[in-house]
Amino acid sequence: MTDSKNSASGGGLSGLLSLASSIKAEKAKETFSGGTPGTFAEKDLITPRDAVDPAYLDFRRHPLLENILAARSFATACGIRVPYFQEMGITDGDRVIIGDREYINYSSYNYLGLNRHPLISRNVYEAAKLYGSSVGASRVVAGERTFHRDLEKKLAALYDAPDALAFVSGHATNVSVISTLFGKGDLILYDALSHNSIIEGVKLSGAQYFPYAHNSMTALRQLLDKNRSRYKRTLIVTEGLFSMDGDIADLPELIRIKKHYGCFLMIDEAHSLGVLGKCGRGLYEYWECDPADTDIWMGTLSKTLAGCGGYIAARQDITDILRCYAPGFVYSVGLSPVVAAAVMTALDLMTAEPERVARVQHNSACFLELLKSAGINTGHALGYAVIPVITRSSRIAALMSEDLFKEGVSVHPIIHPAVPDQEARLRFFITADHTDADLERTAEFLKRLCRKYRLIPD
Ligand SMILES: Cc1ncc(COP(=O)(O)O)c(C=O)c1O
Repeated sequence: MTDSKNSASGGGLSGLLSLASSIKAEKAKETFSGGTPGTFAEKDLITPRDAVDPAYLDFRRHPLLENILAARSFATACGIRVPYFQEMGITDGDRVIIGDREYINYSSYNYLGLNRHPLISRNVYEAAKLYGSSVGASRVVAGERTFHRDLEKKLAALYDAPDALAFVSGHATNVSVISTLFGKGDLILYDALSHNSIIEGVKLSGAQYFPYAHNSMTALRQLLDKNRSRYKRTLIVTEGLFSMDGDIADLPELIRIKKHYGCFLMIDEAHSLGVLGKCGRGLYEYWECDPADTDIWMGTLSKTLAGCGGYIAARQDITDILRCYAPGFVYSVGLSPVVAAAVMTALDLMTAEPERVARVQHNSACFLELLKSAGINTGHALGYAVIPVITRSSRIAALMSEDLFKEGVSVHPIIHPAVPDQEARLRFFITADHTDADLERTAEFLKRLCRKYRLIPD
């Protein structure tokens, strides 16, 4: 502390230096408490800071930064642009402007093409005029508004649930809900391919937890046979439509299991809403199950619903606990009026225009068929909005993304360390707005590239 603002006394540089060395000597005495005080030469004095490994004093040596730099050098070595944090211009339907060029966009969760819908824009504008752009406080204190409850009623109605609760972030919804409802002495079993937000919530809860092999109901039963009786509450949690692979959780079997073993069941519908089921109501509509057999329906407002945030729909006892104890709800601002207006309008449009749901399903099925018939590896995809092209190499995924970009197609590679190299892929999000011509053109490019990189024979 040689800064003059922090000096207690002394004047000029020499005063500061002598003050600094006396403070240093005092610190050294504290460090060596128990030894003989006052006998150290200046060069022998060490401060607690001197004992710290220099790697822990500098974020330039943080392993996460080292990862980032390694990824950048990897991109440079491959001669490709880093495809992340690319500034996107206006996105409209299935198109995006990047720089001064228009691309077919496969990187957006705008599944029903509702973002920038004129009715949503108008209602957002009206809401901002009436309420402003923020509620300015947590709902627990001064942030509660009528539109919050109106939105939650609509969300609850989607699942015929007694209640719903809206959060300002989808990620925070999973973290807060899981870690508030479950804790020490409880057990959580989650699908091994679950989204990061689920896993963060599970870890934070303090409960014992195990992942079960992806979508394996046998593995789940085995874990329950071995562990269920040793814990109090048990949660089974999974994504509905899997965001990386485009396959679907086996809801009927999950319900049978949860009833048999006495567990709670939570389903993350981030990617299912608007995509699965005749009316886009998601997993339970797809499987024709009773939504009341699932304890916690979770979803995001940021995908089909053209907003930002998350929600749960559940019994009143669950929402009562969360309304008073979930940190991501209690200690965070209430949902903004403009987001609530966008989401309520999107929900109305989804219900009024089921043809949008039919279109995203039709487009996805057609694209999957085009790729499969060319022998391209699409992993477990079932033809519902999320369609990966498995390259089994981060390098090839990055190069293919770059080649497609040059052809006017924007799609992101998922590469190591986000997934093991063997699982590297391009991930296509299909929307209701993609045209047959877009999909056919893209499939043709992909065929050519898969041959070029020897993923399919010539
Ligand atoms: C399965 C899943 N759950 C939760 C989230 C988090 O949602 P949000 O991005 O709205 O915070 C995502 C985000 O992509 C997701 O894919």
